[in-house]
Amino acid sequence: MKIAESIITDALRYYFFPKKGARSGFAFLVHPRDLSDVHKVIPVSKFLPDKVLRFLLRRFFAFTVGKIKANHSENIVITIPLTGQEMLRHETLAIRMIRKAFVLAQRRGVKMVGLGAYTSSVTKGGEALADLKEKGVCITTGNTLTALISFRHLKLFLKSADKHVKISDLVCAVIGATGSVGRGFMELAVDEPEFSELILVGRTPERLQKLKKELEERGLLGKKKITITNFIPDIVRADVVFVATSARSMIIKPEYIKENGVIYDVTQPRNVPKEITEARPDIAVIDGGVIETPDIDYPNIFGLEPHFAFACLAETLMLSLSNIDREFLGLVSKKDIDLISSLLDEQNFKLAPFMSFGKKML
Ligand SMILES: NC(=O)c1ccc[n+]([C@@H]2O[C@H](COP(=O)([O-])OP(=O)(O)OC[C@H]3O[C@@H](n4cnc5c(N)ncnc54)[C@H](OP(=O)(O)O)[C@@H]3O)[C@@H](O)[C@H]2O)c1
Repeated sequence: MKIAESIITDALRYYFFPKKGARSGFAFLVHPRDLSDVHKVIPVSKFLPDKVLRFLLRRFFAFTVGKIKANHSENIVITIPLTGQEMLRHETLAIRMIRKAFVLAQRRGVKMVGLGAYTSSVTKGGEALADLKEKGVCITTGNTLTALISFRHLKLFLKSADKHVKISDLVCAVIGATGSVGRGFMELAVDEPEFSELILVGRTPERLQKLKKELEERGLLGKKKITITNFIPDIVRADVVFVATSARSMIIKPEYIKENGVIYDVTQPRNVPKEITEARPDIAVIDGGVIETPDIDYPNIFGLEPHFAFACLAETLMLSLSNIDREFLGLVSKKDIDLISSLLDEQNFKLAPFMSFGKKML
């Protein structure tokens, strides 16, 4: 896709000629994970010193970076020009840019807007966009499908990996349990008979207290042993660690992981350093939150194999294909998981092969 052409089309739609008539298709909002993603989209940016490039990106604007053919509609990918780190460091600027990207999506005539990676976290699961919403437009964080397929994918791995033989009586840690994806995964894990104990990890004590109170009120604390903590090294007892935080840094250290432990990481940008597998060859790190959608082609910006998508994008696509006029915002709920699960059954989507830092496992 020619970026200059696309920026001109965006500007015309945004400022002068918003698309009129019936809405169709979806827009998916993304951001570069790091500067290497920027280099892929704007190759000339390679020649700029990182500091200068970051400075320029903070003064740039959201634009359409690719198209996705599906459902006979124009589906577009709009990028915010800030990297994951910059979005968390300059949150007010990031929110301003995401809001403009959202308005651009609406003016390009889409019906559904999906919030990829940190565009969901930073807007508090889409809350910061509610006042801009035009009639007939729905927003999804894409987090429900992410939680659902991650849970299924991890369970399949535990069944098929003979190195990690133990498949029952497991201790499962959820890092980011007070967040949207983490909550969805927790809702499934709490009902999983193979998990005898859950360690729920968050960052903010008040949010952890709120989670504890809610679990108490729902009578879930008696169902299995549940530990709630903001001390990440507490995961050292866990056989399985699900990672879903919006932390800026590599918060998972080799010494926190139990012998032969399994880490399922959905974070983008990642919280689990690649070096962990060198320091600890006994553990398995699974690249999570990816799904195969055999009939769909994606622009070459996500760093995935053809026909593979991050689950948050796949959820946006699926809602659009299924013509669902409903929002999926905030923390993932069990009710939303059930609905997304029934929609998933109607699609030709498949769990991805197991990969670790981009390389095939098993
Ligand atoms: N693969 C995919 O398709 C896909 C789809 C969706 C999301 N994701 C990724 O999943 C991750 C979570 O997304 P989300 O929308 O669920 O985010 P979210 O709702 O903002 O939740 C983030 C969670 O991380 C915790 N956290 C943040 N910084 C932390 C730190 N330094 N140490 C420990 N915990 C920390 C937060 O704790 P507090 O509650 O205290 O703030 C919260 O529990 C992101 O990396 C996102 O890019 C991937």
